[in-house]
Amino acid sequence: MDQQLTLQNLEAYPLQQEPQEVGRGIRAFVYRISENHVAKIPHDKYDFLENNDVWLRNDESAIEEIVHEYEIARELFDGGVCVPRPEGIFSIHMGREPYVLAERGTNYPGFVMEYVPGEIIVNIEEDYELRIKIYDEEVKKAQELGFLTEDADGINGIWSPTREKVYIFDFGEWAKVEDVD
Ligand SMILES: Nc1ncnc2c1ncn2[C@@H]1O[C@H](COP(=O)(O)OP(=O)(O)OP(=O)(O)O)[C@@H](O)[C@H]1O
Ligand SMILES: [Mg+2]
Repeated sequence: MDQQLTLQNLEAYPLQQEPQEVGRGIRAFVYRISENHVAKIPHDKYDFLENNDVWLRNDESAIEEIVHEYEIARELFDGGVCVPRPEGIFSIHMGREPYVLAERGTNYPGFVMEYVPGEIIVNIEEDYELRIKIYDEEVKKAQELGFLTEDADGINGIWSPTREKVYIFDFGEWAKVEDVD
């Protein structure tokens, strides 16, 4: 992908609804931005569970992080691994949502991907063993494509009961074996 990406030259995502938070982690917030899409937007990575002083980020490193994750998701998707379909990197207008720091403006870089309704594997009570086995199989496929699958854990998998599939996600810590020395 173009290494010169800046917030200004990112395509604006055509929002038809207010972004709604659907998840959060130590790196990012994830917002539902349409019927079928979510956007993952990096935050300040403070210990947000203890500290509300955490804001969405729109600096260069935020863009780099999600470009890295998008490129991995793209390769996995093209390689037949079950991941939420990656759509691209867009500028998301966050208006005055929570976690928007006024001096950073209202537009934030988001990794846009398919919204997968379902349940995080570690929260499943019924058939947990079966789902985690499928999760591990998808991770193994990713390893066969040459990825170091850091942080691969059932917390980063969604079981979709309607599609009867396990989707793996959250590749922020992943790398290609050949890129690591
Ligand atoms: N495609 C998706 N569809 C539905 N929900 C999602 C999707 N992607 C992420 N989520 C939700 O957002 C949460 C955070 O996503 P993710 O794990 O990618 O963020 P993170 O900050 O990198 O997490 P971590 O703390 O594990 O590093 C997930 O636990 C999940 O609930
Ligand atoms: Mg995660």
